[in-house]
Amino acid sequence: MAVSVGSPPVSAMADRADACAKRLQEADRVLLASHIDADGLTSAAIASTALERAEIPHEVVFEKQLDAESIEAVAAREYDTVLFTDFGSGQLEEIRPHERAGAFTPVIADHHQPADAETEYHLNPLLFGIDGAAELSGAGAAYVLARAMESVAATDEGSTDAARIDNRDLAALAVVGAVGDMQGGTDGLAGANGAILEEGIEAGVIESATDLAIYGRQTRPLPKFLEYATDVRIPGITNDEAGAVRFLSELSVDLKREGDWRVWADLSPAERQTVASALIRRAIERGVPSNRVETLVGTSYTLLDEAPGTALRDVSEFSTLLNATARYERADVGLAVCLGDRDAALERARTLLSNHRRNLSEGLEWVKTEGVTVESNVQWFDAGTRIRETIVGIVAGMAIGTPDVDGGKPIVAFASKNETELKVSARGNYRLVRNGLDLSAVMREAARGVGGDGGGHDVAAGATIPAEKRDAFLAAVDELVGEQLS
Ligand code: C5P
Ligand code: C5P
Ligand code: C5P
Ligand code: ZN
Repeated sequence: MAVSVGSPPVSAMADRADACAKRLQEADRVLLASHIDADGLTSAAIASTALERAEIPHEVVFEKQLDAESIEAVAAREYDTVLFTDFGSGQLEEIRPHERAGAFTPVIADHHQPADAETEYHLNPLLFGIDGAAELSGAGAAYVLARAMESVAATDEGSTDAARIDNRDLAALAVVGAVGDMQGGTDGLAGANGAILEEGIEAGVIESATDLAIYGRQTRPLPKFLEYATDVRIPGITNDEAGAVRFLSELSVDLKREGDWRVWADLSPAERQTVASALIRRAIERGVPSNRVETLVGTSYTLLDEAPGTALRDVSEFSTLLNATARYERADVGLAVCLGDRDAALERARTLLSNHRRNLSEGLEWVKTEGVTVESNVQWFDAGTRIRETIVGIVAGMAIGTPDVDGGKPIVAFASKNETELKVSARGNYRLVRNGLDLSAVMREAARGVGGDGGGHDVAAGATIPAEKRDAFLAAVDELVGEQLS
């Protein structure tokens, strides 16, 4: 039966996915371990649902980071099979000794740069020539595995029940994970992500459209939607409540309903066209450079089974909602939302979201006020305890996208993790990657040089280092980046 994801970019992974699926099917029960961010949560939700549907008992745990200590804890559990999602590849050197010692068999569905070790059940796009930073997320890898689990279940049991398993609806969560990892790009999801999106569209769970690339399409009343859109600053609208209201009031369309401002998603295509054109015209009139104006338009993804006007209906809002849970030690809440809880968990997640948004905006403001220190090849800031270590990477990524921070050099951000360790987050952009930048290699090498460790993707990576080694680490990073970009 044809169950592998059809398009060539993903079918390259099909045999490995089948092997991983078979190994899971053979297990009495599985421990599923995943990463605490939007992609990690959606990865776990996809894998957990696929295990559930294949009737494989399992338990889900989350880790902020997979390191020697957390792998030790996993090994100490009484599970013979451990499925790692959205991490594991970068930690193969730490995982392998436990596998060799017979503690557990690892099955890995990840998209991070693999370390120098290999294992049998290792599903990672980078092993098949697919870009793990731009073309497939952890959730995407978990989705490829979930699709393979349909056929294994059907083959093994041969029953009509098992044959009816169809995991294509999970494409919705895979798209949330990819967008949460910023794989959307300006032209939308591409490559393997694009193939998964197509399956989700065919399954009727998702829709994509060219749209304004502004956060809050489903939940923000129009004036707030425009006022808070700070990626492209439009004088007289951005950060200007009265200005945004005036701009909207002067348009020829009625943007209120029973006295209240409507939200973007509620507008008809013609109404959206009117607002978007006026917005772009205003930006040009006020001297916003055309390359910035272009970034106002992007691709939006709508989850058709979610209620209109909720954060879950818009993929970008959904992914931010998930980060708001997992990065604040409430991954359980985010997972419950992914698995369908629309009551208590969603309510809790909404509260966490407003806290997260406040932290992001305060963090971004702090970076703007304090400024960054520019070295020969990188720029950096050290937020100490001012920005939570679990979100300093998001803030760094948002900062490098603003006009206040030069996009010509990668940004390296520090935040304290505890008394003795610093969390490092590094962010670049695809232009720098095309010129040779690989932040994953930089973070791993520079961190190992000072007794820490790191990894990630070419365009976004991170590390943990001893606090007193910051300056030595920075010097190494500056030199390594210089070599890559020379
Ligand atoms: O661990 P994980 O792979 O989920 O983290 C990916 C991180 O890289 C996210 O924080 C995402 O925002 C960031 N990223 C980025 N720019 C890209 C791709 C990813 O900042 N182009
Ligand atoms: O939080 P997340 O990693 O999903 O953020 C992805 C992008 O969405 C950010 O770079 C930012 O442009 C936008 N965003 C935002 N406000 C938030 C969260 C995200 O504008 N609170
Ligand atoms: O934490 P942050 O968002 O900066 O992470 C960026 C990327 O680097 C993520 O993909 C994360 O999994 C990876 N990372 C890593 N090792 C670390 C820290 C981060 O592989 N010690
Ligand atoms: Zn990921």
